[in-house]
Amino acid sequence: MAEIRTERLLLRPARAGDLEALHFILSDARAMAYWSSLPHRELDQSREWLQSMIDNPDGEGEDFVVEHQGRVIGKAGLFRFPEIGFLFDPAVWGRGFAQEALRPVLDRAFAVHGLARVVADVDPRNRASLRLLARLGFRETERKAKTWLIGDVWCDSVYLRLDAAGWPAARVRPVNPA
Ligand SMILES: CC(C)(COP(=O)(O)OP(=O)(O)OC[C@H]1O[C@@H](n2cnc3c(N)ncnc32)[C@H](O)[C@@H]1OP(=O)(O)O)[C@@H](O)C(=O)NCCC(=O)NCCS
Repeated sequence: MAEIRTERLLLRPARAGDLEALHFILSDARAMAYWSSLPHRELDQSREWLQSMIDNPDGEGEDFVVEHQGRVIGKAGLFRFPEIGFLFDPAVWGRGFAQEALRPVLDRAFAVHGLARVVADVDPRNRASLRLLARLGFRETERKAKTWLIGDVWCDSVYLRLDAAGWPAARVRPVNPA
């Protein structure tokens, strides 16, 4: 699996040593407010979650741990082709890190993995995620009620989609631009 460097970030495969840093985020109620599970209470929940990220076989997805200045700040990627997922430490929200991480993820989705589209499933209350996805060019395709039972609360979904043709970086560039 690839390692990607952006201006400020390193995106790399997950490893066992990421457990504490990821559990710190996965146990944060703010980060997990619209996630597909309640905040993790036990380290073992995060261990299992991390292991499934590590085991994710090539060809089924491509998910990255994101580092900033040597510190794990989140994760971003296609956890299961063609579905995108991302989760960042609230301490770093509002600095454009999610956007910066997702751009190369989307470059690879279309240019390397040859996906025709990338999709997302977002809780309609999750304004930060919807804003981020809109900035990247995603468009809403459908809404459904009561798609996730989180604890004892039913949550809804907004489904979004970005087609390869709608991704600017997927356009073929001349090899030697004049
Ligand atoms: C969704 C989530 C990743 C968004 O984080 P974020 O930091 O708001 O996202 P971005 O990287 O797009 O940052 C954008 C913000 O940074 C600001 N910013 C500051 N410096 C910036 C820079 N250099 N480049 C771009 N944006 C910058 C932007 O103005 C913008 O602020 P605004 O939203 O108030 O207008 C974050 O809220 C999160 O981890 N949530 C929990 C997990 C979750 O819900 N995941 C999705 C499940 S479907």
